[in-house]
Amino acid sequence: MVEKSPNVVWHAGHVTAEDRLQITRNAPAVVWLTGLSGCGKSTIAMALELALICGGHPAFVLDGDNLRHGLNGDLGFSAADRTENIRRVSEVAKLFADAHIIAICSFISPYRADRAQARKRAEPHTFIEVFVDAPLDICEQRDPKHLYKKARASVAVGKPMAFTGVDAPYEVPEKPEVHVQTDRQSADECVAAILQALRSRSVLLENS
Ligand code: ADX
Repeated sequence: MVEKSPNVVWHAGHVTAEDRLQITRNAPAVVWLTGLSGCGKSTIAMALELALICGGHPAFVLDGDNLRHGLNGDLGFSAADRTENIRRVSEVAKLFADAHIIAICSFISPYRADRAQARKRAEPHTFIEVFVDAPLDICEQRDPKHLYKKARASVAVGKPMAFTGVDAPYEVPEKPEVHVQTDRQSADECVAAILQALRSRSVLLENS
């Protein structure tokens, strides 16, 4: 990103991270769900949000489709636009975490370098990368939004739409903190694995 606003200064507030800790029962964290379209990211993200809220922990889902209705509505699916999508979202996720809200990010986020940047931007907060894994053919069979069908048809008429897994790449995470397989695990099992990861890193109190 080109910096175009040099003459700006940081204003620190009066509320400290310790003050915020007094009113939440969790430390800040960013949970980053990555995987193919149709792999189950949004389903897991929404179920995780509900589980956290029911446990008394502030949490909020930042979802790819949802954010493309507003903040990121000007972005398409070129590699550069996807990188900018993830840059904006990871900055927002950091702000949520600063506010002690557990930010649950659900984005295809196909590039390792973009996910690595998201992790870096979240510092010093805990960052949990969750690889929501399902084979491409299963995602394509599910095709809840009929987008795989559309993407195959577009390729067939020579007008590719850069759809992840069809004519755009997905770089599999090398060392995710959590790896769930939605073709063999239920959404509840996936959520349980993420909650366990949050507990083991002391984001959630052991008994919450
Ligand atoms: S990302 O690659 O930039 O991380 P993001 O998660 O925001 O993608 O948005 C993905 C959603 O946009 C998909 O769930 C799908 O509904 C929709 N979509 C529309 N066109 C494409 C495309 N060419 N590639 C991937 N997803 C697409």
